[in-house]
Amino acid sequence: MERELALEIVRVTELAALASAPWMGRGDKINADGAATSAMRAMFDSISVKGTVVIGEGEMDEAPMLYIGEQVGSMNGPEVDVAVDPLEGTEIVARGLNNAMSVIAIAGKGNLLHAPDMYMEKLAVGPQLVGRLSLTDPLEITLRKAADILNKNVSELTVMILDRVRHETTIKTLRKVGVRIKFLTDGDVAGAMAPAFPEAGIDLYVGSGGAPEGVLAAAALKCLGGEIQGRLMPSDANEYARCVQMGIEDPYQVLTMEDMIGSEDVIFAATGVTPGEFLGGVRYLPDERAETHSIVMRAKTRTIRFIKALHYLPNKKFITS
Ligand code: FBP
Repeated sequence: MERELALEIVRVTELAALASAPWMGRGDKINADGAATSAMRAMFDSISVKGTVVIGEGEMDEAPMLYIGEQVGSMNGPEVDVAVDPLEGTEIVARGLNNAMSVIAIAGKGNLLHAPDMYMEKLAVGPQLVGRLSLTDPLEITLRKAADILNKNVSELTVMILDRVRHETTIKTLRKVGVRIKFLTDGDVAGAMAPAFPEAGIDLYVGSGGAPEGVLAAAALKCLGGEIQGRLMPSDANEYARCVQMGIEDPYQVLTMEDMIGSEDVIFAATGVTPGEFLGGVRYLPDERAETHSIVMRAKTRTIRFIKALHYLPNKKFITS
């Protein structure tokens, strides 16, 4: 893929973020998501790829656009797999909370895992812990190993996890071991990426979240030099069959970075909708301007660009009444 593509796709996440931000705090996650999705889909037409959505808004019969299998892009460019989440954290935007982003990952055709829409158990770390921990170890062992490698007391570790009832046992273990816990209300792509940003102050991300979000996080972590391990959690025979149908022979196997992202040729972009651990949210400024904060990265070169953009929105385009 041409390196210019990275800068092209950040326009897509910027536009989706600008479109959904006016819905911040309005208690309406459906419209917040719809606005981001329509904007992202429209902007995709100008991107120089022949893309197939492999992670998107759902199956063809349940999503009007950016559905799995949809062809996107200008069709003049490389054949690529596209993973999108126009609004990662719909509830966050509806409730005016932190860590909502618009997200895209693109890789050469056949190089993004077609993750089914179900939960995935996750363990994500930053560069210092890459290759040193295993999702198959008991959590207590993982925490002690991590503390050792990072040269910290276990009580100095900070672990991020979604605040969910299903995590009760995991949270009990975290409390017993004595780490600091930072709870997320939603938005576990940002959560899993956080350990790769020293300024976020997060050492590990654990717990279960969406499997598609796991693959998006894997693309980001590939560029950031971090790591995520995942294990699908099919809840019944139908979900199990769905994994197999999507090409995952053993649905209970630990999925490595290589299983999720099959090549170094991957690019990732995200724009903050609301403020988060490493990105600012959309801010409205005087003179019909809005400011966005994005990150755009290529795994091949590991270049990480933070892009702050000032957009001119005459007549408050994108501001709903
Ligand atoms: P949406 O943007 O689709 O609302 O997803 C938000 C999210 O928090 C994801 O980041 C996460 O992977 C998933 O939901 C967790 O699911 P659940 O809310 O069922 O725990």
